Amino acid sequence: MKTTHRATFGGRLSAVLVTAGSAVGLGNIWRFPYVAGENGGAAFLLIYILSVLIMGVPIMLAEFAIGRNTRSNAVGAFRKLSPRWTILGYNSVVAPLLIMGFYLVVSGWTMEYMIHSITGDFTHVHTADEYAALFSAFTQNPWRPALYTVIFTLLTHGVIALGVQKGIERSSRIMMPLLLVILVVLAIHSMLLPNGWEGVRFLFTPDFSKVTASTFLTALGQAFFSLSIGLGCLVTYASYFKEDTNITHTALQVASIDTLVAVLAGIVIFPAVFSVGIEPTAGPSLVFVTLPAIFNTLPLSMVWSTIFFLLLVIAALTSTISLHEVLTAYVHEEWHLSRRTSAWIVTAACILLGIAASLSLGAWKWLQIGGISFFDLLDFVTANILLPAAGFFVCIFVGWVLDRRFMPQELTNKGTIPLRLWPLLRLLLRWVCPLLMLLIFMDNIGII
Ligand code: PFF
Repeated sequence: MKTTHRATFGGRLSAVLVTAGSAVGLGNIWRFPYVAGENGGAAFLLIYILSVLIMGVPIMLAEFAIGRNTRSNAVGAFRKLSPRWTILGYNSVVAPLLIMGFYLVVSGWTMEYMIHSITGDFTHVHTADEYAALFSAFTQNPWRPALYTVIFTLLTHGVIALGVQKGIERSSRIMMPLLLVILVVLAIHSMLLPNGWEGVRFLFTPDFSKVTASTFLTALGQAFFSLSIGLGCLVTYASYFKEDTNITHTALQVASIDTLVAVLAGIVIFPAVFSVGIEPTAGPSLVFVTLPAIFNTLPLSMVWSTIFFLLLVIAALTSTISLHEVLTAYVHEEWHLSRRTSAWIVTAACILLGIAASLSLGAWKWLQIGGISFFDLLDFVTANILLPAAGFFVCIFVGWVLDRRFMPQELTNKGTIPLRLWPLLRLLLRWVCPLLMLLIFMDNIGII
């Protein structure tokens, strides 16, 4: 059943960097800090790390196994293993398309902010209120955010068009190390700010009084989104892994990098927030309003804000590439079109959705359902319904439907490397993860 002409990633490092590129994104740098800020800082971080270990790594392993075993796009992978479960593959390609709709818009904002930082446009804006007004004027502008959405999509397209090795692999090998260097520089700079240690303490001294049941569910949901679970990305990327890639090591390394980046992003943001005496619970606007206002108070503000938004652009780009690749691989292999045509079809679809999502925040206010804008709807449907549903069914599929030997075979590369902690992993995949997923799902749709 195996297609032999499929591309593979060069070495072990590539598998890790490319997959980490998908995982590390706006979820880590934009979303994690404000969610942690709203949920008590360090206590949230602890629960988050537990979620990554208990749920993230096992489901990531399951998706890696499915992808590498079948060497197919997400739909083909599930079909090959069990035709009745093909629908799970369809869920894994519909979700990335919908995610692209709003993710590309926010990615476009990061690019616009990077350019404003470079040109020094922010130097006349001073207070947080002025930045807030600027941000809402910008997101509601009839054409600018839409234009940047298109530019970002075309940038993503450019990488995809170069192919799996020359595009995806090579770009990740450059962008991921660069991203880590920028993060470390920014983190050190933040810690050295006056009062910066307050922010570090906030992130590392747990205060459990803020923890409620919903904190656990928020942490699980965040871990899920951040690790790119349930969207076909891990399945698709693993389909390019080599036969001898150790998927357990890869999953642990990717999860560690992803968590490290989220923590470092916290170290960049919280000390800055504390140094100017702002509350750390500013919410989604933390990165687009609070932070630029803080940068403006610093010497060399243009430089710091340019570097910070460049960081966001890189993080977003490696993730949009992975989302695009899920769709391109699907169209290419399932519709039997050339990779080039497939990539253009996906790009066109993303541009249409992205423009609609972007405009739904401003000029096309009518584009809403039940008072929720199309932009928020895409976010809501994917994060709260499609993703947890996929996570749940992947566990059921691997834990209960597939042959018992499927996972051990993949984890040991057909018996060539030792199998460790299998009883624990099996327990997590069969019982713990699905039950947790069910909980998240019921919470998300408001049943509990
Ligand atoms: N993991 C990415 C982030 O944290 O921003 C977002 C993402 C990318 C989610 C790719 C899902 C995905 F398939």
